[in-house]
Amino acid sequence: MTAQDFIPKNYSEEISEGKVTWQSPSNIALVKYWGKRENQIPANPSVSFTLNYCKTTTSLSFQKKENPSNNFDFELFFEGEKKPSFRPKIEQFFRRIEAYLPFLKEYNFTIHTSNSFPHSSGIASSASGMSALALCLMSLEKELDPLMTEEFFTRKASFLARLGSGSACRSIEGELVVWGKHETEGSSDLFGVKYPSEVHQNFKDYQDVILLVDKGEKQVSSTVGHDLMNGHPFAEQRFEQAHENLAKLQDVFKSGNLLAFTELVESEALTLHAMMMSSRPYFLLMKPHTLAIINKVFRFRQKTGLHPCFTLDAGANVHLLFPKKEKEAVMSFIEEELVEHCQDGQYIKDEVGAGAKRI
Ligand code: DP6
Repeated sequence: MTAQDFIPKNYSEEISEGKVTWQSPSNIALVKYWGKRENQIPANPSVSFTLNYCKTTTSLSFQKKENPSNNFDFELFFEGEKKPSFRPKIEQFFRRIEAYLPFLKEYNFTIHTSNSFPHSSGIASSASGMSALALCLMSLEKELDPLMTEEFFTRKASFLARLGSGSACRSIEGELVVWGKHETEGSSDLFGVKYPSEVHQNFKDYQDVILLVDKGEKQVSSTVGHDLMNGHPFAEQRFEQAHENLAKLQDVFKSGNLLAFTELVESEALTLHAMMMSSRPYFLLMKPHTLAIINKVFRFRQKTGLHPCFTLDAGANVHLLFPKKEKEAVMSFIEEELVEHCQDGQYIKDEVGAGAKRI
């Protein structure tokens, strides 16, 4: 498929008003997306677990304008209150997707959005937020074009979400989603696809405990972050490595080898941070508590033979991933040894989920 395939021809229906609500989850990358080209095309393929409880709920009300205008007209409420600071991101999103949803300037929109996780938790809401909004817009398009297939709906929702925030395209479906052209069947740079091959039972009920080391605003915006890979001396090797890691991970998903999983996922997280540390300007996003947690995880694994493994995004918080059957022991370890490294002792319990839901 090409981007052209997402440009609609004619709509069979006229819709004057309505309302739709979607709930869309966050996701956690195992092989990381870091670096992009024009139009939100990833520099390398990535794969993520879709989460279950960290999610955004977005309602979109729409009324057809009596007099068409040349503006995007929308009101935006976050947790019940007007949020002018979010407007530029939505405006930019609408500009990027207008060619694919030509009706955008024909409606007045009211957007109500809220997150299941605290806004000041240092957890990025762009993946869940952009995917929820993309899905709402797709529901409106589906009303205009009722013959649209489920498959096209899901693909285009992911395609649009990507234009809002790259990783958002991995939040439409569950439980594992691949984004970026790779040997994986059906994979594309334009949208995320459900991982199509065999997945061992070990990975079906994975847990993700997000240890909130730093609840502040992100130090490096994603735009600045991805841009660091332009002209980075190790960029090409890193992009190649991501391809290799994704290929290796396919074997791991099949075999259920938890040691191999741990090694690969942790190496990906550290490589992401190594890229940031070795770019110009350079960024050091791990905090002393991040390192303390990582070292305790190493020791705990050695001592118990259990399999909690960490991953990191572009920040100091630690995601601790482990199979459900180890939950009791790992949760005690978190309570006894890791909570002291979390800001205000806070962490969020999540697990692999099935993807976005219309409600
Ligand atoms: C480190 O998806 O937030 O979390 O496309 O600029 O919105 P934009 O970037 P974004 O980048 C996420 C980067 C990451 C790794 C990942 O999720 O794959």
